[in-house]
Amino acid sequence: MLADSYPFYLANKPEAPNTDLEVTDKFTGAVATRVAMASSADIERGIAAAVKATEPMRLMRPYERQAVLQHCVDRFRDRADELAMSLCIEAGKPIKDARGEVARLIDTFRIAAEEAVRIDGEIPTLEISARARGYRGFVQRVPIGPCSFISPFNFPLNLAAHKVAPAIAAGCPFVLKPASRTPIGAIVIGEVLAETDLPAGAFSILPCHRDGADQFTTDERLKLLSFTGSPAVGWDLKARAGKKPVILELGGNAACVVDEDADLDDAVGRLVIGAFYQSGQSCIGVQRILVHEKIYDALKEKLIAATKKLIAGDPKKEDTFIGPMISEGEAKRLDGWIQSAVAAGGKILCGGHRDGAMLQATLLEGVPTDQDLCTEEAFGPVALLSPFKSYDAALKEVNNSKFGLQAGIFTRNWDKIQQAWDTLEVGGVVIGDVPSWRVDNMPYGGVKDSGLGREGIRYAIADMTEERLLVIRTKQ
Ligand code: SIN
Repeated sequence: MLADSYPFYLANKPEAPNTDLEVTDKFTGAVATRVAMASSADIERGIAAAVKATEPMRLMRPYERQAVLQHCVDRFRDRADELAMSLCIEAGKPIKDARGEVARLIDTFRIAAEEAVRIDGEIPTLEISARARGYRGFVQRVPIGPCSFISPFNFPLNLAAHKVAPAIAAGCPFVLKPASRTPIGAIVIGEVLAETDLPAGAFSILPCHRDGADQFTTDERLKLLSFTGSPAVGWDLKARAGKKPVILELGGNAACVVDEDADLDDAVGRLVIGAFYQSGQSCIGVQRILVHEKIYDALKEKLIAATKKLIAGDPKKEDTFIGPMISEGEAKRLDGWIQSAVAAGGKILCGGHRDGAMLQATLLEGVPTDQDLCTEEAFGPVALLSPFKSYDAALKEVNNSKFGLQAGIFTRNWDKIQQAWDTLEVGGVVIGDVPSWRVDNMPYGGVKDSGLGREGIRYAIADMTEERLLVIRTKQ
């Protein structure tokens, strides 16, 4: 399904000066394909081309930008099977999850196509006192200019799409650095964009070495940096980004509260997905499960039984639920955290075994709250159970984290829903489901160490445009 090699895209055109980047099949470890790596000079050319494309992109009419985005929707639909298989290979993503990501990619571009023709302005009232009599105000949103994007390995298509699609809708040229371990998704987006009439230089998609990220970060010609990835890298980039606004979509250690009125079977079904889909490699994967003490034992038993049923193995097989983690190194890191948690008194309820990059779906209880497994982002197939006595204490525990992306609560009590919504320090509260739930037009992003700003097309377009005021003095 993958080609033997892929170019990068520089100023809308494929270029293949080398095949330096090896992309492995994350399940077999074999080299699956090769990709051209951009040099520092290539990145410079990409940025210069984006600067040149600023005015032609601004001049594109909303319906023209919409047509480009609609073309992408159509082409991604045509190529859905191929895209899903490439995710399966380059990310080790189980094929069902990979199809889900392709469906979301199509949604993301579809939403952007819709939003491209409704970037509306405002007519603010200026006559607030006698001295402003006769003055009228109008606000339009104008593109911010060339944007810099850095996207992560865990959703190679859709998290690149969350930057690319709103940029086109807003009229911003961009340079994108995809994750080196999973560049193919973004390259195929480039292949499809190259079929459109976007102005020359409107986009460059440039896999490159880690230090290439410096140019994406520090160059003053780039007017916005949007990064999705790890908290450590994200906050460091922000510190070096200069005057440009920075959007950070970072990690978390998401909590899910299961209160005493929850439907246990329903909650267990959702928790298994939230904790273990794509081997827990999601920023909003369920990591901390807080369960009311009255239902703790019953829920624990059901959750262990459901977790043990998950089929692990080759992500290309239809019934596989747990595939490999992105690398053996990452699986070893998480295995180490599990061993430390056990040494500190935690108990493994199921799983806990690692073979290369394959880590079993693992549940633990009694893990001391100062352990990495509690305080840091696990980003793997591990979840921790703990009981609570009072709902107030459970909400406090959710907030007992340096992160704040999303939280899930299983309750049907309106007062408790309101209390959670008002007091949880997160970007989103999901009731009756896990924190891992996301649909692509909703405002998505975190507080605290989880990031800055929101994605979700409309919200990203707001960041990629600036308000420009027109004041008119009339004689009436
Ligand atoms: C993420 O892992 O950063 C995003 C999760 C999602 O889009 O579902």
